[in-house]
Amino acid sequence: MDAICNATRLARSIMSRQVKKGDTVIDATCGTGQDTLFLARLVGQDGRVLAFDIQEKAIKDTTELLYSQGCLDQVALFRDNHINLQSYIKNGVSAGMFNLGYMPGGDHSIITNPFDTVLAVNRLLEVLQPGGILTVVSYPGHPGGEEESAALQASLKDLPQQRFEVLFTRFINQVNHPPQFFYINKLINYQEVY
Ligand SMILES: C[S@@+](CC[C@H](N)C(=O)[O-])C[C@H]1O[C@@H](n2cnc3c(N)ncnc32)[C@H](O)[C@@H]1O
Repeated sequence: MDAICNATRLARSIMSRQVKKGDTVIDATCGTGQDTLFLARLVGQDGRVLAFDIQEKAIKDTTELLYSQGCLDQVALFRDNHINLQSYIKNGVSAGMFNLGYMPGGDHSIITNPFDTVLAVNRLLEVLQPGGILTVVSYPGHPGGEEESAALQASLKDLPQQRFEVLFTRFINQVNHPPQFFYINKLINYQEVY
């Protein structure tokens, strides 16, 4: 079996099983554009990726990458905080990715923060179609990263198990605070409990 290697590869592996041609999906933190490009190829020309970042550099780098790979048409890029993602979504999405922390090769002081991350994840769960999934990769190694991961764990562990499957994991034998991984599946068939 091939090595999974890291949380980012795990997230992509799960996404590649979930996302179909024609789907609408979210990249909540486009950064350098690598995850956006990955999702754009999965949804194809009939699909849609809505990608967010608060940094102008991230939007510019992602635009250039998508253009160079012929994938710009199926992506809408928004320089906006991901807490506002609901205002861009009309009919729900089948999947969403959050890759937290700072932009690789960019300004390390511009990072995701616990309050916005927890709010944005919960807002994305609201617009996720039944059967849809969400992945989050978090980085406990940088200042504030451990607190962000803890805040997310505290929020997600209270999701009702009749409606959501929630997994949290990490590689426990890797050095230097390896990334952590969250997976949430909004169940297709659930019973409302009153
Ligand atoms: C680890 S990087 C994302 C990596 C990216 N997915 C890639 O493939 O390169 C995290 C990104 O989140 C962005 N970010 C931080 N806070 C944000 C927020 N509230 N809303 C949207 N993006 C945010 C940062 O600007 C940074 O580019």
